[in-house]
Amino acid sequence: MNPPKPAPRPDKVSLWRYFRLFRQDILSAQPQRLYRAWMAEFKTPFFRSYLLNQPNLLDTVLRERPMDFPKSNRIAEGLRPLLGNSVFLSNGEVWKRQRRIIDPAFEGGRLRDAFGSVAAAGQAAVARLGGATGPLEVEAVTSHLAADVIFRSLFSIPISDQVATQVFNEFRDYQRSQPILNPAALVPMPRWIPRLHRRKTRAAAARIRALIGTLTAQRASDIANGTAPDDLATKIMTTPDPETGQVFETDEMVDQVAIFFLAGHETSASALSWALYLLALYPEAQERVAKEAAALDETPEFGDLSKLRFTRDVFRETLRLYPPVPMMVRESTKAEKFRDRDIAKGAQLVISPWHLHRHERLWDNPNAFDPDRFATAAGKVSAQAAYIPFSAGARVCSGAGFAMMEGTLLLALLVRAFRFSTVAGKTPVPVAHLTVRSKDGIWLSAEPR
Ligand code: HEM
Repeated sequence: MNPPKPAPRPDKVSLWRYFRLFRQDILSAQPQRLYRAWMAEFKTPFFRSYLLNQPNLLDTVLRERPMDFPKSNRIAEGLRPLLGNSVFLSNGEVWKRQRRIIDPAFEGGRLRDAFGSVAAAGQAAVARLGGATGPLEVEAVTSHLAADVIFRSLFSIPISDQVATQVFNEFRDYQRSQPILNPAALVPMPRWIPRLHRRKTRAAAARIRALIGTLTAQRASDIANGTAPDDLATKIMTTPDPETGQVFETDEMVDQVAIFFLAGHETSASALSWALYLLALYPEAQERVAKEAAALDETPEFGDLSKLRFTRDVFRETLRLYPPVPMMVRESTKAEKFRDRDIAKGAQLVISPWHLHRHERLWDNPNAFDPDRFATAAGKVSAQAAYIPFSAGARVCSGAGFAMMEGTLLLALLVRAFRFSTVAGKTPVPVAHLTVRSKDGIWLSAEPR
C-alpha cells in the first residue's frame, strides 16, 4: 500500500473551478498528467504560466542562469509585511550581498556547533512527551520542537524562554489569520486586483518584528560587550560582507531572523511529522531506525550521524514524497524558447518538487515509500535528475545541510524513545499550506519503548 497522495482533478475543468480548487489547495488543483509531462502550459485570460519538469530546463532556470529567472515578485507580496526584504524575497545585488553574509554561518564546520542545540531540543521534546501514548497530533509536537531548535541554534535560548514562546505563538496566530504563503498567491493574479494586507495581519507582523527586534538589539549589545554566545545570530551579525566590509543593519537583521525562524521551523516541522507518519505506516522501517538509534550515546555527538545512514535515507525519502516546499515560482526576464515553445518575458515558471519527485518517467515506483532506493544505482540516477527538496543552484536553501542533520537526529531521538503507530480512521490527507501539511493534522500513538 502506498502512502497518501491527494486525488488529482480531472484533466479539463472550467477556469472558475480551477481557481476554486486552487484556493482550497494547490495539490489537488492539478491534473494527473503533470506527473508525466516534461512541461505544461497554463493559459488563463490573465497570465501564462508553465510548469517545468524536464531536468535540463530546471538546470537552466535554477543552476545555469538563476539571475535571468528571479523569484516571482507576485509571490513575495503576501510575505512582505512579515519578512521585509529578507534573503528569501530579495533578488539581484541585494540578494547576492545577503547570501555572502549568511552563507558562512551554515558552512560544514558550523553544523558541528549547531548539533548540540538540535540534540538538546530533541531530548527536551522526548522529556515533554513523557509517557504519552496518544493519540497525539504530531504536527503540533514537531512545530514546537522545530521552533525550539531554531531558537537554540540562533539565539542560544530554548522555546520556554518568554520572548521565544511569544514569537512562536504570534507566528502561529499570524498564519491562522492569513496563511503566510496563501496558495492562491501562486496564481499570478492580474495586477489590478487589489491585495491589501488586512490591518490585523499587518499589526500581527509588526508585533512579531518588534519581538525579534528585542532579541537582535540585546544580541548587538552582548556582542559589543564581548559576552555574546557563539551561535548563528552572533555569526551572522558579526560577519562582514567580504566585498564591502559592511555588516547587516539592525532592520535587515530582523528580516533575516524572521525568515530563518519561518523557513527553518515550518519546513522541518512538516518533514518530521510526515517522517513519523511514514514510520508508523511501515513498522519494519521504524524498527530499522530504532536499531540505529539504539547505538547512539545517551547524549549523541556530531560523529554519531554516520551511524544513522538508514534514518537519513528515511528523511530523504520523506522529503521526496512530501517535499515541505511543494512549488516555487520564478519569472522570465526575457523571451526564452523552452521545448520549442516561445516563453514570453514575464511568464511565470512553476517548479514543482511535488510533481518532479513523483514523476512517472523519472522515478521507479514513484508513489512508494522506499528509503533504500537512494542506495541503488537507479535511485541515484533519479535523485541526480529529479530530487530538489531544497531547490538547487545559487538560490538553494541556505539551511539544507542544517536541515538534513536536524531531521536525521531528531527522528532518531524520537524513535529511540517511542514506538509510533497509526490511529484507525485518521489517514492524513496532504494539502499545501505554507508547507505540505495534512488537512486535519497527523494523528499517531506513541508508546514508550
Ligand atoms: C526540511 C527542511 C527544509 C526544507 C525542505 C527547505 C526548503 C527550501 C527551499 C525549497 C527553498 C527555496 C525556495 C524558493 O526558491 O522559492 C529554501 C530557501 C531557504 N531556506 Fe530552506 N528548507 C528547509 C530548512 C531550512 C532551515 C533549517 C533554514 C535556516 C535555518 C532554512 C533557510 C532558508 C533560507 C534563508 C532560504 C532562502 C534562500 C535564498 O533565497 O537565497 N531552510 N528552503
